[in-house]
Formats: sequence, structure tokens, C-alpha cells
Amino acid sequence: MRINKVVIPVAGLGTRLLPATKSQPKEMLPVGRKPVVQYVVEEMVEQGLRYLLLITGSNKHSIENHFDNDPMLVERLLSTEDDDLLREVDLRPEGAQIFYTRQMIPPGAKKPAGLGDAVRHAQAFVNDDPFVVALGDTIIHTEGKPDLISRMTQTHLNNDAVATIAVWLVEHDATRRYGVVKPEEGADLTQPFRITDIVEKPTPDQAPSRYAVAARYVFGGQIFDALDATLPGHGGEIQLTDAIRRLVREGKPVYCVPLRPNETRYDIGNPESYFRAFVDFAFDDPQCGEKLRRHARALLERYERGEGFSLGGD
Ligand code: UTP
Repeated sequence: MRINKVVIPVAGLGTRLLPATKSQPKEMLPVGRKPVVQYVVEEMVEQGLRYLLLITGSNKHSIENHFDNDPMLVERLLSTEDDDLLREVDLRPEGAQIFYTRQMIPPGAKKPAGLGDAVRHAQAFVNDDPFVVALGDTIIHTEGKPDLISRMTQTHLNNDAVATIAVWLVEHDATRRYGVVKPEEGADLTQPFRITDIVEKPTPDQAPSRYAVAARYVFGGQIFDALDATLPGHGGEIQLTDAIRRLVREGKPVYCVPLRPNETRYDIGNPESYFRAFVDFAFDDPQCGEKLRRHARALLERYERGEGFSLGGD
């Protein structure tokens, strides 16, 4: 069996990044030269996924426009004869198809009902086939050829799993920002391993490990029953983590695939992690990375001398 569908939730409000996200989706914020969601779509298409469903919401039209053809822009660029730029703005993924559906805000509520509710909107699209979920606000950067999704789908199918989750090792104090898993006793944590629990945003002293969910999942259709039975949890939202926990507690096989040293997770959901992502990608930019690194070195020296911010110029 081949898994070829992916669900990309992009319906969250992004309140932690206000005011930048007041009238634009956080998934459209640039990291280096591209908006975050473009990295996610490219990551999925490069790893062979063919049918992409974006779960959108209010204020998210610019995401649909971004992946559409823009004849006016093409016409303008044709007159400049800049072929590279022409290729770069054509973001219709080759060999793949993007679908959109909208996560509605429940009647009487003021915000969407959470990531778990967003995934629920994919049920008709996946039609009982196993599928990938990739959060639209998180980049997984791989040095070399990306293969995380194929490691995950293999683990999922080989173990008849109901859910398979990418995880990474976080600092002790960072567990409060993520879903955190409890590996099976004696598991080799450098290889895919089964879990016996998962907890949403535990305090460091209550965290069952330092392995946090890394924004990529594979699910079987069982996740939909679990989501239907899940009540609002942390933040009053239907938490995907709580539905996975339900599956674990029913004794169903849930596996994790750890990120490798050449894989980095960039969650852009809060200002600090967004700034870090931008800096890393900007410093690595083939055209202006070197100049920026020089600028940063000089700026850091100013800070060390207590002089601070204003360096200006180029
Ligand atoms: P977050 O957990 O970061 O939530 O979403 P958020 O609502 O976007 O941001 P804050 O907490 O207000 O700052 C993780 C991913 O899940 C999607 C988001 O778009 C993001 O890609 N999401 C979240 C949904 O699609 N629907 C939701 O109801 C919540």
C-alpha cells in the first residue's frame, strides 16, 4: 500500500504572533525567501505525496492565491524576460493536486475548535486510507535528501499502527510547549519505538520524557472515532494529542519516529522560534547569507560592547 494523501491544517488564529498575523495567516509569514507553508507543501510533494488537503479558515485566502496561477504577474514577468523568477512564481505543484476545505468556527464560538477539529474536516477526503498530517506552521529542514515521511509511513504500515508520530528531543524546560510521549520500557530511542502514553503540554516535572511531537503524523481512519469521542481539553480546544492518547489507552499501536541529527524542526508559532527560523534560513541564503553573517558578527560585537542596535547600512 502507498500513502499519498496529506492533510495540512492552516486554520489557526496565530494569536501569539500578533500584530503580524492580524490580517495575514501566520503560515504566510516569510522564512528567508519563502512563506512557511510553501516549505511544507514542497516537503510533502518532494516525498511523493500527491493529494494535499489544506484546512483553511477565515483570513486565509492568500494561501490559496499563493498556490494559484497569477496570469497578470506572469505577463509582467514575461516582459522582463526573467525566466528564473517566472519559474519561481509558478507554485502549482507538479504531479500533485491541492484541495481546500474550511474549518468553520462553531456557532456561538469566537475561534476555531482546535487542531483535532481541523483534522476531523479531512474525513471525507481520506476515505479510510492512511494519511499524513503536516502542520502548516512548521518546517522540517533536512540536510540532504528528505525521507522522514517515508520512514514514518514504513513504520506505520510495518507495525499496523493506528498513529505514527515524528518526535524530537527537546530541552527539559520546553516540554510545556508541546505534546510529549512516553516510550515503551526499554525502547531503543534512536529507532522507531512504540509509546504507552502522550500528554499535551506537560510541565517539565510531569513530562513522561523529553520526546516532543514534531508536527508530522501518519494516521489510520481510527483517529476520526477517537476525535469524535474527544472533549475540549487544553485551551478549550479539541486536541489531536488527546485523541491519540485515547487510541494508546485502548491498547492500539501508536509509534514514534525520532528526527535524525540532519533534521531540524522549525515551529514558527511564537516570536522567538519564528525569529530563529528566519535567522537560520537568511544566514544560509546563497545570495545574501554571507553578508548577513558579517553584519550579525559586527552587531554582536556592538552588543558585547554595550552599544546595541543601530548598525544600519549594508
Ligand atoms: P497552534 O497550536 O500553533 O495554534 O496551531 P494557532 O491557533 O495557530 O496559534 P495561536 O495559539 O493562536 O498562536 C498549530 C497548527 O494547527 C493549525 C494552525 O493553523 C497551525 O498550522 N490549527 C490550529 C488549525 O488548523 N485549526 C485550529 O483550530 C488550531
